[in-house]
Parts: sequence; C-alpha cells; structure tokens
Amino acid sequence: MIDYQKRKRVMGRSIKLGHCICNPKDPCPCDLFKQKNVCLCAGEREEDAPEDVALTTLVENAGCASKIGQEDLKRALAGLPRVFDPRVLVSSDTCDDAGVYKLTPNTALVQSVDVFTPVVDDPYAFGEIAAANSVSDIYAMGGNPLTALSIVAFPIDKLSPRIMNRMLQGGVDKLREAGVAVLGGHSIKDREIKFGFAVTGLVHPDKMTVNSKAEPGDVLILTKPIGTGTLSFARQIGRAPAEGLAEAELSMRALNRAAAEAMSAAGVTTATDITGFGLAGHLGEIAAQSGVEVEVYGEAIPVFTGVMDLIREGVISGAVERNREYASAFVKREKGAGEELETLLYDPQTSGGLLIAVRKSKAPALLAALHKRGVSAAAVIGRVSRKGAARIVLRAKAPRS
Ligand code: CO
Repeated sequence: MIDYQKRKRVMGRSIKLGHCICNPKDPCPCDLFKQKNVCLCAGEREEDAPEDVALTTLVENAGCASKIGQEDLKRALAGLPRVFDPRVLVSSDTCDDAGVYKLTPNTALVQSVDVFTPVVDDPYAFGEIAAANSVSDIYAMGGNPLTALSIVAFPIDKLSPRIMNRMLQGGVDKLREAGVAVLGGHSIKDREIKFGFAVTGLVHPDKMTVNSKAEPGDVLILTKPIGTGTLSFARQIGRAPAEGLAEAELSMRALNRAAAEAMSAAGVTTATDITGFGLAGHLGEIAAQSGVEVEVYGEAIPVFTGVMDLIREGVISGAVERNREYASAFVKREKGAGEELETLLYDPQTSGGLLIAVRKSKAPALLAALHKRGVSAAAVIGRVSRKGAARIVLRAKAPRS
C-alpha cells in the first residue's frame, strides 16, 4: 500500500530542495522511483527486495581481510593518549587480543570487539562465523566469555530484512553454544554488510594468557588450519576449490572453546588467536612482546586443501600484501623453505585458531588433550629458539633431533 499523502509531502520537499532528502547525491524523482515506483524516503520498500543473494558478491574485501592493515593502523593511532590506570592490566599498547580490567584481586573483566564483512554466502553461516570470531579473542586471553552486544551494518533499503534476521540468528545460536548471553546491539544503515560482536568475559588476573610470556624451549601449537584469506579471495574471482572452501567454512564456524579449555587445563601462559594479520603478524607480536626468536616449520603448518596451489598460481590478495608489508620485518626464510610458504604466513585468517606457546614438557599432553576434545587439526608448528630480537625463522621442516 502506497501512502500517497506521505509520498507527496516527502517528495515535495525533495523537489523543492533540488535533491533527495534521504540521499542528497540523488535527484528527485530518483531512478528507483522512475523504474519501480518506490520512494525509499517515504518509507516504501521494494516488494521483491532480494532474499537469496550470495553475501560475498556484495563486498570488496571478505571477512578479516577487511581489517585496516597494521601499518596504517599504527599511523592512525599515533599520539593518542595512553591509559594510566593501575586497574588496566592489558591495554591496546601490547597488541593483545583483548583488554583486561581488574575488578578484584581474583577477577578481571576481559573485553574485545570484532566486526567484519561477509566471508561466506549464507547469512546464517556468516552470523555463526562472526560470533565465533568475536568470542575467540576472549578465549585467546584465557577468559570465560559471558555477554555480548551485536553490531550490524546493513543495506536495509536494498536487501530483505530476512537476510539480517538470519545473520543475527546464526550469531545468537553460536554464542548460545559458547554459553554467552546476547544483551542487545546496535544497527546502522550502510552500503556494505558488516557484522560482529563486542564480547565481555571474566578472567583470573594470574591465569590470563598474554603474548609476552613465551620462553626459549616453548613449543608452538596451532589449533586450526590456515588459508581462509586466500580461499575467500579465490572465491571472489571464481577460482576456489570446493573442497577447500567447505573445510574452511566448517573451521571458521567452530568455536575456539574446546581449544581454550585444554589450554587452560595445561596452565599455558602465552597464547593469541590468528586473525586478520595472519600467522606472521600474530606470531610476530608474541616474539616482539616476549623478546624471543621463534622457528616455524612450514610443512608442519596445517593448511586447507588447495591453498598452496592457489598461492603457487599467484592467487594472492592485496590483504596478503598489506600483511607482508608489516610482518615481513619479522620473517627470515631459510634456504629450503619456498617463497610460497612465506606467503602463507601472511594470509589473513577469519575466525582462525589459537596459537599457543607451551612449555616443552607439557606439549605432548596438551596436543593429546586437544585431539581428544575434537580439535583435530591442532599441530606443533615450531618452537621458541632463544631470547633475542623478534624474529620468525621459517624452515621447511623441523630439524631432526
Ligand atoms: Co585476536
């Protein structure tokens, strides 16, 4: 039903001003009105707003590849006031996964927020992935997530509200699986879909896992395969292998909860999750904050099917290059490790796994516990070799000991 009175009032004003009052870049009457007899300004909506649109076709950069690069970010944050409050145990200064605020000697708040563009086509699966990714930073800090607030950007005048509903449903269901209550949220109209959550949890101040406590001898364990960035990019250009995409989607939808529980039980002190800055970016932060040099065994890194072939064929996105700009300063590639292995280290991950530095004596038990809890891809990918300048030495494989 068209409210002609309302339309006349709104369009009258637009025509008088010389442009649409909802979008001053458009003339009035606009193209949509001329073609489909719909005035968005008057609150009218297209009857046939698309419902079954493939979400990744709507975005420029998929998932965590939509993150602002580390180089640009450092420039944008330069000179901002630092936090001097003794209750702030972890702030953005140390590039940790979440901020931590002490409430009592035994309790601290741990908080993080993460929002990104669609990385899969199905709205419900995208919602699950956005939720699993958002809550991951709490797990990476050793925290117990409790509550969340959603943040949605959505082109509500172009797409059916049912798509947004499916996204939210996927997110809420995944957070329920994590035992997290969604308290509310905020939505904005935007040209591109973006979705994520601000998540709050609790952690014991003495038991949080930071990125600064790795020690020589520690074993590095990664709990999920990598390569989601390359697969997403390949999908956008029609070159992704179906098998790799299916593996990656399943992995991105999985919570890091079981991995975090195994990690806490093992008394680990140092961990992070691998997201937008790639394995090199996040491991580089551990090396820098801990003041250590690490070794990574390229062929031991779990990777989704088809990713190495794509990299060899030159299917390497701009997001990989932005990560390389920043993180290549950490990386020293040994003879024998191919260039494509190094490129893999810069692949931006969406809802990636935990990267754990565990004492050597506890590593076999932790790996077994991870596998027992269903974290089947978990693998030893390297070790902390010595104190020293932040450096990642990339070898093809582990030296025989
Ligand atoms: Co993180």
